[in-house]
Amino acid sequence: MTDPHSSWESCEERIRAAKTADELDVIEQELFGRKAGAMTLALQSLHETAPDERKKAAAELNTWKRTFEDLLAARRKELASPSNETLRTSDRIDVTLELPQRERGHLHLIPEFIREVEEVFGRMGFDSATGPEIETEEFNFNLLNIPRDHPARDMQDTFWLAANNPADRLLLRTQTSPMQIRYMQSHKPPLRVIAPGKVYRKDSDATHSPMFHQFEGLMIGEDVTLANMKAVMITAIRALVSPAAEFRFRTGFFPFVEPGLEVDMRWQGDDAASREGKWLEVVGCGMVHPNVLRNCGIDPKKYQGFAFGFGVERMIMIKHQIPDLRAFFQGDLRFLRQF
Ligand code: DAH
Repeated sequence: MTDPHSSWESCEERIRAAKTADELDVIEQELFGRKAGAMTLALQSLHETAPDERKKAAAELNTWKRTFEDLLAARRKELASPSNETLRTSDRIDVTLELPQRERGHLHLIPEFIREVEEVFGRMGFDSATGPEIETEEFNFNLLNIPRDHPARDMQDTFWLAANNPADRLLLRTQTSPMQIRYMQSHKPPLRVIAPGKVYRKDSDATHSPMFHQFEGLMIGEDVTLANMKAVMITAIRALVSPAAEFRFRTGFFPFVEPGLEVDMRWQGDDAASREGKWLEVVGCGMVHPNVLRNCGIDPKKYQGFAFGFGVERMIMIKHQIPDLRAFFQGDLRFLRQF
C-alpha cells in the first residue's frame, strides 16, 4: 500500500496546478466520489483502525478533507477570474499608441471673439456692460441725437414691436449705441466701457444678417481726445485681428458723434481672383456729440470723449478670411469645427 501521506500531498499539488475547472472536477471526483473516492474510502475504513489510533487518524483525515475542500473552492475562483498573466497577454493597452482625437465641444467663434474683445479692452481699463435687446425708441434713437424726423433714421431699417406705446415705441435695438446712454446715466465720468451684444436690422446678404453682433465703446473724461481714440482703436484692431492688419480711417457721419469717422479694413472676400482685396467697413467712431452728453446729464464744457461701434462678424470675417457672413448662423459643423 502506498503511503497515504504522499498520495494526499500529490492530490494537493494537482489541485494547485489545475488549469481548468474540468480538471478540478476530475480531481474532486477522485477524492470525494460516493463509491470510489479516495477520501470517501479512507473515511469509511476508519472503523477498521485500531481503537487507540482511530482518534488521531480521524483528526488527520478531517484536516486533509477540509484542506481539499478549501483548495478546490479557491482554485475554482482563481480560474474563473483572469490571472495577471492572462491580463498581461490578452488585455494589454499600449499607452504609446496614437489615439483618435476625442471630439470636444467649444465656443462658437462669435462668443469666443467677444471674450477676446473683453480681454483686450479690459487690459486698457475698459469695463464691460450689457443691456436689453428690446429697446425703446428713446434710447435707441432720440437720446442719441436721432429724433423721429431725422433722415439718419433711414440708415437703419428697424424691426418695430407690434404692441406699442406710441409715445415711446419698442423696437429690437438696431445698434449697441443705446448702451452709451444707459451707461452714462448710471455712471459718472471719467469712464471707460465696452458693451457687446446682438443687434437687429432688416437686412440680409453676404455682409449683412438681420441679427448680428456689435460692441460699443465709450471713453469720457476731462481731456480725452481724438488722438486717444485712434490709439485705442489701432491697439484693439492689431490685437484682435492681426498685428499686420491693414486699415484706414476716413470721415463718416453719425448723428451722435462730431466729428465722425469710419474705419475700413482690407478684406480678400469672396473675390479670390482679385489679389487687391476690398475695403470693408468695420467700425464707426467719433467724438461724442455735446447733445448726447447733455442728454445724459454730463456737462459738455467740462467733459468730452469718444465712442465707437465695431461689427463683430465683419472683424471675424477679416481675421479668418470668411467670404460669407451667413455661415456664422447656419450651424454647419464642417464650418464651425475649423475654429
Ligand atoms: N451705431 C453705429 C452703427 O451701428 C456704429 C457707431 C458709429 C457707433 C459711430 C458709435 C459711433 O459709437 O461713435 O452703424
